[in-house]
Amino acid sequence: MIRLENVSLAFGDKVILDNTSLSIKKGEIAIILGPSGAGKSSILKIMVGLWQPDAGRVLINNKDISKLSELEMLPLRRKMGIVFQGNALFDSLTVKENVAYFLREHGGIKESLVNEKVSEVLSFVNLEGTEKICIDELSGGMKKRVAIARALSFDPDIIFYDEPTTGLDPINSKSILDLIKRASSRGATSVVVTHILNDAIYIGDTLSVINEGAVVETGTVYEMLRSENKFVKDFFYEVFQDAALLQNKIL
Ligand SMILES: Nc1ncnc2c1ncn2[C@@H]1O[C@H](COP(=O)(O)OP(=O)(O)OP(=O)(O)O)[C@@H](O)[C@H]1O
Ligand SMILES: [Mg+2]
Repeated sequence: MIRLENVSLAFGDKVILDNTSLSIKKGEIAIILGPSGAGKSSILKIMVGLWQPDAGRVLINNKDISKLSELEMLPLRRKMGIVFQGNALFDSLTVKENVAYFLREHGGIKESLVNEKVSEVLSFVNLEGTEKICIDELSGGMKKRVAIARALSFDPDIIFYDEPTTGLDPINSKSILDLIKRASSRGATSVVVTHILNDAIYIGDTLSVINEGAVVETGTVYEMLRSENKFVKDFFYEVFQDAALLQNKIL
C-alpha cells in the first residue's frame, strides 16, 4: 500500500532521512515511532507528497509519487486524510464550517449531501450538537476530534496522524486513541506518527522505530520486545521498567 524505498532527504548539509525504507500494509494501523527530531514528521510529509525526497521512491498503491507536482498529487491527495499535530483548523470558523469547507474543497460531493456527511462524521467522533460552536471555544481533545472528523469526511483510503495525543491529558489521549482504532475499522489504512511508546503499543498493528533519519526496525510489539537492536532495546526499556515498578508496587 505504502512503500518508501531508499529514501534520502537533506536540507543543505543536514541529513534528515538517510537511505531509509519502510512498508505499510493495507488496512493496518502502522506506527512511526521515534524520539524528537528523528525524522518522523519528515517521513509523513514525504508520504503525503508535501515534500519530495532527494533520492529514492515513494510508492502509494504501487504508484511512485516521489516526483509528482502538486497538481499531479491532487487526485491522490483526495484519498488521503491528514490530521496535523496542530490540527490546522480555522479557529474563527465553527465546527460545521470547518468540516464542510474541507468536504467542498476535496470536491466530488453534491451540495445537498454536505450537511448529511458533516452530521455523520461529527456523530462518529462523538461531537453531535457542536456544529455551531467556534473552534477557539473548544478544548484540545474536542479540536482533535474535529480534525479527525474532517479527515474522515471524504472517506479516505489512508489517514495520517502526526502526534495525535500530544498536549492531551491521559483520559483525552485514550479516547483519541480509541477513536483512531474505530476510524481504522471503517476500512482506511492508518499511519500514526508518535514519540509516545504507550500509545504505539496500545493501537499499533506494526511499529517502525526510527532514529536519526532511518528506520531501525519494523514489526509487531512482540517482535520489538525481542529485538536485538541496541536503539530499540533502549527505547523499549521504559516498558520493562514500568512492568517491574508495577510488580514491585503490587507485590
Ligand atoms: N524545513 C526544515 N528545514 C531544515 N531542517 C528541518 C526542517 N524540517 C525539519 N528539519 C529538521 O529535520 C530533523 C527531523 O525533523 P522532524 O520534524 O521530521 O522530526 P520529528 O521526528 O517529527 O520530531 P518531533 O518529535 O520533534 O516532531 C530535525 O533535526 C529538524 O530540525
Ligand atoms: Mg514531528
